Amino acid sequence: MTIDTLRTIFFSPTGTTKKIINTIANGINLPVKESIDLTQSQPEINHLEDNVLTLIGVPVYAGRVPLQAIERLQQLKAENTPTVIVIVYGNRAYEDALIELRNELTELGFTPICGGAFISEHSWDTDNNPIATGRPDKEDLQKAQEFGESIAIKINKSKRLKPSAQLIVPGNQKYRERKIFPKIKPIVDESLCNTCGQCEAVCPVSAIQIGSKVKMDENKCILCSACIKQCPQKAIQFKDPWLKNVMSWLSTNFNEKKEPEFFF
Ligand SMILES: Cc1cc2nc3c(=O)[nH]c(=O)nc-3n(C[C@H](O)[C@H](O)[C@H](O)COP(=O)(O)O)c2cc1C
Repeated sequence: MTIDTLRTIFFSPTGTTKKIINTIANGINLPVKESIDLTQSQPEINHLEDNVLTLIGVPVYAGRVPLQAIERLQQLKAENTPTVIVIVYGNRAYEDALIELRNELTELGFTPICGGAFISEHSWDTDNNPIATGRPDKEDLQKAQEFGESIAIKINKSKRLKPSAQLIVPGNQKYRERKIFPKIKPIVDESLCNTCGQCEAVCPVSAIQIGSKVKMDENKCILCSACIKQCPQKAIQFKDPWLKNVMSWLSTNFNEKKEPEFFF
């Protein structure tokens, strides 16, 4: 099988996973045949051609792959498609996310050939509780670029991309239990909000409705912060005391810089 094009697939509510995937893609330097953004909706293309190198990235939510990302990936069908698997986490830990991504994709017909774990600004990073603010930084992006370049070398060298053994990545086969977060929604400061609708447009789970006011549905909200980071008026924030405590815990305990890791 000759691999001469690339496909990217990602779920990325606040855009850091997408940034890392695009930088790795740049390093791989193959023509991009298609880019499937799973953030807003289910994919339209579902049966994937197998001779396209596929680069898949998701964020880590509570040490797992977000359920919405899994559900949208499950709409795709592949056939031994050589695949690079990437998870992006907010400098705490990624626990079972990479192994879960590997296993899920293998079930769907992808063949993971290498993987990476990258660090980004935490979705809950704020001025008062900084958590890996500004990441991926220049060094992270340089490493993402170089990771892409090493994948390109691997592809050029090996005629047979199907590995003889399964890609080994950290994590437990029995994943940690999926965390059920309390029902929380971001709070809109109506004195700042001009109902521009940008929050509604970026919400990955249609939890926001714009009328004369912004309506947020805590039954749908996945706490991803897409609306908070998108709002040009800075009118949206989390005010829930439980989540504020978590943010402060993350900021205090996970401020030592973690570095990207690669698995071949
Ligand atoms: C609900 C939720 C749970 C998260 N859980 C973790 C976690 O377990 N470990 C971690 O380091 N970061 C965690 N994060 C941070 C995200 O993994 C990180 O910010 C990610 O890069 C966001 O990707 P995106 O910019 O593509 O949306 C969590 C974020 C959210 C919203």
